[in-house]
Amino acid sequence: MRTHIIDVIPGDGIGQEVVPPALACVDALADRFGFAVEWRHRDWGSELYRSTGAMMPADALDLMATADAILLGAVGAPDIPDDVTLWGLLIPIRRRFEQYVNLRPTRLFDGVRSPLAHPEGLDLVIVRENVEGEYSEVGGRFNRGLEGELAVQEAVFTRAGIERVTRFAADLARRRKGRLTSATKSNGIIHTMPFWDQVVAETVAAEFPEVQLRSVLIDALAAELVLKPARNDVIVASNLFGDILSDIAAATGGSIGIAPSGNLNPERRHPSLFEPVHGSAPDIAGQGIANPLATIWAAAMMLEHLGETEAAAALEQALADTLAAGVATGDIGGTAGTTEFAGAVLARL
Ligand code: NAD
Ligand code: IPM
Ligand code: MN
Repeated sequence: MRTHIIDVIPGDGIGQEVVPPALACVDALADRFGFAVEWRHRDWGSELYRSTGAMMPADALDLMATADAILLGAVGAPDIPDDVTLWGLLIPIRRRFEQYVNLRPTRLFDGVRSPLAHPEGLDLVIVRENVEGEYSEVGGRFNRGLEGELAVQEAVFTRAGIERVTRFAADLARRRKGRLTSATKSNGIIHTMPFWDQVVAETVAAEFPEVQLRSVLIDALAAELVLKPARNDVIVASNLFGDILSDIAAATGGSIGIAPSGNLNPERRHPSLFEPVHGSAPDIAGQGIANPLATIWAAAMMLEHLGETEAAAALEQALADTLAAGVATGDIGGTAGTTEFAGAVLARL
């Protein structure tokens, strides 16, 4: 039997609540579609940090290197700075495993109300560059506590880094509607962006001549996602721009509690990581009301990545059917709790 080895890191806050439903769905699909999953449960995160001073053990990345995929809930706790928690867990995984594509789809499910006046045709995918750009290691905080205290950051864009994420996005665009939007800011004094524009344009022209490329300033693109979302199908964006756009896109789909994310190493030399776009939501953690949909959908993306195409489609369909039947959590206007929503999805599997 095909066996997939998956590292599971529920992490912090609602991560602990939304991951178990996703595991239950995958287990049900494994029975139905004839594959096996070996879950390797990792109790890493802020709790571990409080007792050991580290978010994950020193050999964590080596341990995960043998996984077929990683499923993550969320990281972040109100009593620990984000630069400790996130820089100690999520960011090192993305980097070590060269997960340079962060794939973030948005769709408007039947039964879910978008906050947009004209959400018609909303169905897009953000391809976010995930390991370089504005999220670089070059920079720091200087003269701490002294006069002239400052922090500087160098955004680092490489030709190879822009080319590979563009290649992934353009190939996806070619298989969808043949349209690619690139998020830019070449009008501001941001020296990296004219370079981004040039490499994106060259890559598309040379390798995907059939793909129609539109370069849009990030500020205007943010507005366009709210006013005319259907103008976009696949969007390629740098690390920070893609981060911000993905929460906007998630909200247009009804809630950030719906949006999934695949941190991919497209060459499959290393495991890819699947997670919701949202964070640990300390404001609602422990109440049993978090929407597990984003994490369950992320698990469907994981199944697709593992080659379990039918199981992935069945899971996404079960999510759509559950929403269409009027079962929903509070963030999208329903009354179901986390467990009740998950139970309704499971019943359809
Ligand atoms: P957040 O995404 O955790 O929450 C933003 C808002 O959305 C909150 O009001 C929250 O209640 C709501 N929300 C989020 N997920 C939901 C769900 N599944 N169901 C219903 N409502 C949901 O963002 P934040 O509050 O800015 O960040 C909280 C912590 O999470 C911070 O420490 C942050 O750094 C971290 N964070 C982690 C990740 C990650 O692990 N990948 C991603 C984003 C933020
Ligand atoms: C995301 C998150 C992370 C990011 C944070 C928590 C480091 O916001 O996955 O969107 O900025 O990449
Ligand atoms: Mn984000």
